[in-house]
Amino acid sequence: MSSSEEQEQRTELAARFWNTRHMDPAGEAHDNFLNHPLIQAYTSMRAFDGTLIGHLDALIAELGRRTQPGDLIVSVGCGLGEKERILAAGLPDRRIKGIDIAADIVSKACEEVASKGITNLELAVGDFNRLELESSSCRVILGMGAIHHIEALEEFWQTGRAALLPGGCVIGQEYVGPNRFQWTDDQITAANHALAKIVPQEHQVDHREVERVAVETIVSLDPSEAVRSAEILSTCKSAGFDVSAYAGAGCALLQPILMRQIHTFDPRDWRHNRVLAELFEEEDRLMRAGVLQDDFAMFAAIPPS
Ligand SMILES: C[S@@+](CC[C@H](N)C(=O)[O-])C[C@H]1O[C@@H](n2cnc3c(N)ncnc32)[C@H](O)[C@@H]1O
Repeated sequence: MSSSEEQEQRTELAARFWNTRHMDPAGEAHDNFLNHPLIQAYTSMRAFDGTLIGHLDALIAELGRRTQPGDLIVSVGCGLGEKERILAAGLPDRRIKGIDIAADIVSKACEEVASKGITNLELAVGDFNRLELESSSCRVILGMGAIHHIEALEEFWQTGRAALLPGGCVIGQEYVGPNRFQWTDDQITAANHALAKIVPQEHQVDHREVERVAVETIVSLDPSEAVRSAEILSTCKSAGFDVSAYAGAGCALLQPILMRQIHTFDPRDWRHNRVLAELFEEEDRLMRAGVLQDDFAMFAAIPPS
């Protein structure tokens, strides 16, 4: 099988996975630990100098500053387009276009957009490994938890560079940690120590120990998962982009512990919140000691002129 046929097969499998996953509200809630309000607050305070601003509010402010009325903002890997709907409402005189490979999800999302009468948001099926964007057509290319699913990163930066209008940029709110969630030894040691010391057993519903899941297992479920996450910023810089803004959001301790377990933390339960606060303190301590680095980051990258 040629490598392009293999990539085609991986893309089909990823589309199947996400067509199902996005339809399952439990799946979304279980996996996306960043949606928990306390995690949002913690990551925002890390990234935005102690400010308690939501990730999307920060993005709306940033996009407002970096675009003009009428400008097009392209969001790759938009899924159900829920975040794009919020951006469209917050930036009513900008045009937003989301693309995603999961066709069933895109069609459901399009119905939702039409039924709500949103006129500045378009959603379409598209493959970000073969990104097709008209040259000089958009002011911002956006990745919200999506660039870490791109395998053809070099082509992505090249196409992005050609598509961006003068003054444009790529903005990411992304997982930038180890490829395929292959946690470092330091992460595994720290996470297991924190799990045992801080996290009561009632929250250890998926795992009592943090281990590296075999790459083949991850690939067999979703071949796009964290495919080259750790290379996002290096390939961006190699393509000549200037990472003019970068804000680390931590999570190298939190994610291995909380993924698939975050749903056991009820934001209205102060005992649960106290556990999270202790985890925040521990992650902060380990980051200050240089043991852990940022696994999530927000960044803006300006293409070479
Ligand atoms: C982690 S989800 C993020 C969804 C959305 N941005 C959000 O924050 O809720 C990653 C998305 O990437 C999409 N995806 C995976 N491979 C893709 C590809 N080759 N082309 C376009 N989208 C892809 C998936 O369908 C999924 O919706």
